[in-house]
Amino acid sequence: MIKKALFPAAGYGTRFLPATKSVPKEMLPIVNKPLIHYGIKECVNAGIFGIGFVTGRAKRAIEDYLDYSPEVEEKVKDSSKAKLLEEVNKMIKKCTFTYVRQKEMLGLGHAVLTGEPLIGNNPFAVVLADDLCVGEILTQMVKLYEKYKCTIVAVEEVDKNEVNKYGIIEGKEIEEGVMMVKNMVEKPDIDKAPSNLAAIGRYILTPDIFNILKNIKPGKGGEIQLTDAILTQAKRGMVLAYKFKGKRFDCGSVSGFVEATNYFYEKEFK
Ligand code: UTP
Repeated sequence: MIKKALFPAAGYGTRFLPATKSVPKEMLPIVNKPLIHYGIKECVNAGIFGIGFVTGRAKRAIEDYLDYSPEVEEKVKDSSKAKLLEEVNKMIKKCTFTYVRQKEMLGLGHAVLTGEPLIGNNPFAVVLADDLCVGEILTQMVKLYEKYKCTIVAVEEVDKNEVNKYGIIEGKEIEEGVMMVKNMVEKPDIDKAPSNLAAIGRYILTPDIFNILKNIKPGKGGEIQLTDAILTQAKRGMVLAYKFKGKRFDCGSVSGFVEATNYFYEKEFK
């Protein structure tokens, strides 16, 4: 049912300067695999093989990663290192990758709107690759979409003094871990947040989001906010917030990046 995913990846990644002067944030490796690798693997495991990227200047390394490298393959082919390429090559074989450039960084909502030609009139997943998730969260969300057929936002409880970094949700529980969204505020002041339930970088969006985004005014920080468009959907119909089962690392921050690195080193290299 959900066949496509959009990866907004046009941001500057300023928290990782100077590396992000020339390396896209999404290509920073957690041990030996770049962040996008983990996000695409999550899509493939959820049965999503149409992967669209919204990129920008200095992001070409993403395209190169998602293509075969005959010279390197030849070099390692009879050695134990050949297996290091197996997983990425499987993903390349299974998926179709498409790209569009966001010419001006006008916010996440604008990035999603820029991806419309890659998605068309279909429900789709949005993956922010710098949120590295463990526990097949997209698979859980696709199942929920099949039941409710509406926009779904993955949420988790965050520390009360961190609510000003996230889109914060207020909702009414309709089944265990599933809330109907009543309100959603982008990066609220700590004392004004309606809850501590924060949207993380996994969404399933219905395609009416595009028309809403076309007509929405800039919100917090002068950016076109995805949060505002989702709130419009919630007011017109139904949007769900889903408390996923699993773990998320905020690899857009240095501490989350180090935490994820340690986790995957322990899990896969020891
Ligand atoms: P962030 O707020 O994490 O910004 O964007 P950033 O540029 O990636 O990182 P910092 O804060 O400067 O370190 C959230 C997601 O939205 C995408 C980013 O690429 C990231 O995946 N995004 C944001 C866009 O694609 N376009 C935009 O205009 C804004």
